[in-house]
Amino acid sequence: MEKISRTRIVDLIKREDFGAIVNVKGWVRTRRGSKKVAFIALNDGSTIYNIQVVADPTAFDEETMKLITTGACLSVNGVMVQSVGSEQKVEIQAREIEILGKCDSAEYPLQKKGHTLEFLREKAHLRLRTNTFGAIFRIRHNMAYAIHTFFHQKGFIYFNTPIITASDCEGAGEMFQVTTKNLYDLKKDESGSITYDDDFFGKMASLTVSGQLEGELGATALGAIYTFGPTFRAENSNTPRHLAEFWMVEPEVAFIEIQENMDLAEEFIKYCVKWALDNCADDLKFLNEMYDKELITRLEGILKEDFVRLSYTEGIKILEDAIKGGHKFEFPVYWGVDLAAEHERYLVEEHFGRPVILTDYPKEIKAFYMRMNEDGKTVRAMDVLFPKIGEIIGGSEREADYDKLLNAIKERNIPMKDMSWYLDTRKFGSCPHSGFGLGFERLILFVTGMANIRDVIPFPRTPGNAEF
Ligand code: 4AD
Ligand code: MG
Repeated sequence: MEKISRTRIVDLIKREDFGAIVNVKGWVRTRRGSKKVAFIALNDGSTIYNIQVVADPTAFDEETMKLITTGACLSVNGVMVQSVGSEQKVEIQAREIEILGKCDSAEYPLQKKGHTLEFLREKAHLRLRTNTFGAIFRIRHNMAYAIHTFFHQKGFIYFNTPIITASDCEGAGEMFQVTTKNLYDLKKDESGSITYDDDFFGKMASLTVSGQLEGELGATALGAIYTFGPTFRAENSNTPRHLAEFWMVEPEVAFIEIQENMDLAEEFIKYCVKWALDNCADDLKFLNEMYDKELITRLEGILKEDFVRLSYTEGIKILEDAIKGGHKFEFPVYWGVDLAAEHERYLVEEHFGRPVILTDYPKEIKAFYMRMNEDGKTVRAMDVLFPKIGEIIGGSEREADYDKLLNAIKERNIPMKDMSWYLDTRKFGSCPHSGFGLGFERLILFVTGMANIRDVIPFPRTPGNAEF
């Protein structure tokens, strides 16, 4: 076969120099036609669109024509011609076809007919070859790029915090332990506790649930940082919004208080959504048609409106009034309760009809590091609640006062010896600072309109599932 440099399909479909000889490589999505003509839809992952390859079966050897089946990988040399039949302006009149990889249709699980998302989850290694997952993962890439661009343009430093850590940032005890100890022969002390002095790190270590604490060290030196990395939670929540391994984006900023932290969160999410609308139009159009007819309207809507800013206490009042008015919730509502997704979604979807930033939560239901309010009962927390998602961001202004922070640590019985490095930020040149964490997959859920978080990460890890 003649050697011609490859053109990606995304570039090819924009070209108008008909008559040019080109090469494309990709996987067969469908093949149809007759003895006289074969139409092959080829996709190379660069775009949602296929390129149509038209071949005259009599011009190729029989064996090659037989191997052009759904899933096979081809290299095609041909002439670029104007198309009338296909959805693109361009198609290729094949001159040479090489089968790079054949694909036995009897065994290949992806067929022309649509498959359910549940079925495709079991074939996560191959679902990447479908239109749906191509669209989702191109959007996911774009969101990562938008996030780095947003913070870079604002002068934030990309700061890498450890994945293996000895501290439980959120204090919820949902950590995966990391050890090289022989689990069949565990050394114990006189009281029967496992000893860690002989373990790899000489102490008990786990996978991080958040990079925030180390992020604060970065912010109180570099001014403004953000982390963007894998995060692990051993919570046994089998829901469409929870993963055991997910990616979190955590900006942390010196010299800002809760109001500016909310401004930053709102500007940040709107920037990402606008980026998707500006740069992922073809993929969004596909998802809008196939899965969620309101998707693009919902994304555009987010850009137009200011997020509601409301205190937890006011939020509880609205929910209590809803109950008085006859609305039924599964879980009880009272001041002090940790809001359930149904409560969050009521506020966002039914009461206000737009995103809500809920602030000033009772200290008992929030982590130790949040700044205490004057009332002594609430802390300067902020959760950003989104339609269809619920909580997409959790953050706060941080307690900058050494004594108050120490007090919060003692109140929660957090072992002091592990926290001295963190307390040093308050001991040596403390300053007001704030930050938040965005669940990357929750953002992707919102932007793609998908309903299950397992469908927006290539290889999901959930309770009972670590395939691939
Ligand atoms: O609200 P969270 O627990 O906040 C923190 O971890 C803070 N340290 C962040 C900070 O202030 N720097 O988690 C932040 C976000 C949540 O709002 C949610 O979007 C996402 O992380 N998240 C999860 N996403 C998927 N699966 C899970 N199991 C998640 N747990 C939290
Ligand atoms: Mg939270």
